[in-house]
Amino acid sequence: MDSVKFWAVVPAAGVGKRMNADRPKQYLELAGKTVIEHTLYRLLSAGVFEAVAVAISIEDPYWPELEVSAHDKVITAAGGKERADSVLSALKSIRDLASDNDWILVHDAARPCITSTDIHFLIDSLADDAVGGILALSSHDTLKNVQSGSILGTLDRSHIWRALTPQMFRYGSLKLALEIAEGNPAITDEASALELQGLQPKIVEGRPDNIKITRPEDLALAQFYMEHQHD
Ligand code: C5P
Repeated sequence: MDSVKFWAVVPAAGVGKRMNADRPKQYLELAGKTVIEHTLYRLLSAGVFEAVAVAISIEDPYWPELEVSAHDKVITAAGGKERADSVLSALKSIRDLASDNDWILVHDAARPCITSTDIHFLIDSLADDAVGGILALSSHDTLKNVQSGSILGTLDRSHIWRALTPQMFRYGSLKLALEIAEGNPAITDEASALELQGLQPKIVEGRPDNIKITRPEDLALAQFYMEHQHD
């Protein structure tokens, strides 16, 4: 039997409206490169992936300009309407290469501070797991349930974790879960598609420097983290 392989999938077809920038946030400059170049070179240098399938908007003029788009381990797929559509499209782009049992690590293009330690920790923690799981962080803030500006209640934060990426699942079960969930707005990450199948993905504690670029000030924070990371 062939040994299980690892593939990375990077949804990168979002616009990133909250950045108020002239281009999608993954093409903003950060420490001399675009955000997505940092993300992809970090995934490639982890040394575990057969290939990285990147979902790009079909109207994206920036992607073909980047050297990394022609890297021999980078596969370009068409992005979709929502993040889940983009991930499914990237999965379909490797259907002739990947086996149902292979592991897929889905990682946001907008998380350029991902480290090899986090990637290897996730893989080592879940390699023998039946379902898979995600990097996540416990919540240190008190969390409120709010409607129309008023607090309805306080959540028990001991049970609350913030979902990060990569999220690691088997090719076959992830593709099936996303196909069944297609069009469901509640599917904002891969784990939620698996949860809908009644499965219980695992939590693996990630590093807090694995931030998602969402607002303009996140670029300076990402640069600070990069300057202080040693792996
Ligand atoms: O907007 P948000 O930060 O939640 O997006 C997370 C990731 O999903 C980003 O890397 C973004 O480019 C990607 N995405 C996508 N296709 C969409 C929407 C978002 O690939 N339709």
